[in-house]
This record gives sequence, C-alpha cells and structure tokens, in this order.
Amino acid sequence: MKPEILVASEIHEDGLAILRNVGKISWRPEIRSEEEMIKEVSGKAALVLGTQKVDARVIDTAKELQVIGRHGVGYENIDLGAATNKGIVVTWTPGVLGETVADLSFGLMLSVARRIALGDRLIRSGHWRSAGFLGIDLTGKTLGILGLGDIGSRVAKRAKAFGLNIIYCDLVPRSQVESELGAERVTMDKLLGESDIVSIHTPLTEKTFHLIAEKELSMMKRNAILINTARGSIVDEMALIKALQEGTIAGAGLDVFEREPILSDNPLLQMDNVVITPHLGSATVETRRNMAIMVAEDVARVLNGQSPLYPLNPEVLSRPR
Ligand code: DGY
Repeated sequence: MKPEILVASEIHEDGLAILRNVGKISWRPEIRSEEEMIKEVSGKAALVLGTQKVDARVIDTAKELQVIGRHGVGYENIDLGAATNKGIVVTWTPGVLGETVADLSFGLMLSVARRIALGDRLIRSGHWRSAGFLGIDLTGKTLGILGLGDIGSRVAKRAKAFGLNIIYCDLVPRSQVESELGAERVTMDKLLGESDIVSIHTPLTEKTFHLIAEKELSMMKRNAILINTARGSIVDEMALIKALQEGTIAGAGLDVFEREPILSDNPLLQMDNVVITPHLGSATVETRRNMAIMVAEDVARVLNGQSPLYPLNPEVLSRPR
C-alpha cells in the first residue's frame, strides 16, 4: 500500500507529480489550526508543510510520520528537537528563493519611497496627484541590512546597483560582500541611527523575536523606512503601528505580520505610508516550482529509504530505522 502524504502547503503541480509517484496525497493547504493539523497528520507517513505550527503536541500524535518537508526556508514553526527525538527527518528548500525574496524587498522599498502603491490607489479612486505628492530617491541613501545571509546579500547586490550605501549587522562578518559591494559591518545602534532604510533578513529565533521594538524604532531616523520580508514577529507590530502613527519613522513595506492572515481591523491597513503584501516573498512561478520539486524529491527519497539532500536534522539519518 502506498504511504500517505499530507500536503499542507500550496505547492506547484510538478512537485505534486513527484509525490504522486511515491504516495497517496491528501491536499490540505488551507490547514491553519493545530487541531486540524493533529487530525489530518494522523496516519500520514509524510507532511509537506507551509508556515503552520508543528510543535511537540502535533509530532507526538503523528505516530506514522517519517518525514516533514518544509516548503520554504523559515522553519521556526517546527519543533526540530521534538521531530529529532521521534526520528522524523525534517527537510527544507535552502538557496532557491533568495533572488525572489530580494526582489520583493526591493519592490517594497521602491514602492514606499516612490509612493507607487499610494499613487495607484489615488488614480483608481478618481484622483490625480497634487503638487505635494513627492517621494524620495534611493540613490545616495544608506541601507541598513539586518542579517547579510543568502537573502540579505542579494538585497545588497541590488542596493549597490541603485547607488545606495550599505551597512549591515550580522553575527558573523561577511567579508566577501564587504569587498564586492563595499558593505560595512556596524553595531545595531549605528545601523538604526544611520540608515534611511532598514531591511530585515534574519531568521525568527528566540534572539530575534521583537528585535525591532519601541526602543529600536525610536533610534531610527524620523524619515526612515522599515522593510520586513522575513518574519512578522521580528518586529513588535504594536510598537511599529505606534511609531508609524506618531511619525517616529516615515514608512514601512511589510510582507509578513505577527498574525497571518492579517486581521481586517489591523491599523496598518489604513496607513498611506505603509505598503503591505500577503506574505509573497517566494511567490513566483519559477521559484515556487523549484521549491516544490526540491521538497517533493527529498520527501520521496525518505519514503524510498534514501537520504534526503537537504535535511535540517541529519543526525536522524545515522540512526537505525
Ligand atoms: C519561507 O520560505 O520561509 C517563506 O517565508 C515562505 O514560507
């Protein structure tokens, strides 16, 4: 009998075709609650996962589960320790979505700086621009990048082409990006105080939870723009809303939120100085296809008794199964 695979993420058809060859698919990308996940994952050998939470409780009830394939790069939603304890292999899709997320980060930056989304709303509501409808140039400004890893460094490459000065904050120095793009590693305080745009590209961990809160926002320039395409909870959203309302900073471009989908009464939805998108970071045809194939091939490998190419907990593989 074919193993059962729960697909709880919108994945490209080419990934589904790979999964169909190895198992019987339950297609449930709309699952959001833990209760639903617990119910649906029961009896499944594999789970292809989006950003839904898979904690120790879910893992404990998933007795047949051999592999969790994370369709993406952020894996803060998975209790990796609990999966490892149960001998469940967790895989992910590193390296395929960096350019795509960097494009969106830059798109948000341009959209806030040049008021593109606002211009679009104006004209659709029957208005034309007024004399004071002015944006700001990116050229010559300073971009502060929080986290100069795969995505952050691709944002830096784009920034260089746009004539921005680049400063960054990271746990480790990124000497190649420094020499190629002239990026300068600085302290967090300096980055917040000197950047005209701050763009976030760190993973969400215990250390980065609310990394940008009231104090950090108050250290930013009053004309600064905050861009977040990483994870909503890296920013204290209530503090950000207050900072935007009070003019502590000038604007924000946000693809991620503390609660997703965003609630309809979130004040961010009413702000003209904010551009928001519904967690679209990796959402292009090409990248989603690559991610789907990558996650599906690794899930298929595990179900066929082979080692996956992109395990997050390789220690599980050396244990007898
Ligand atoms: C990721 O890969 O982490 C993206 O945010 C989509 O989940």
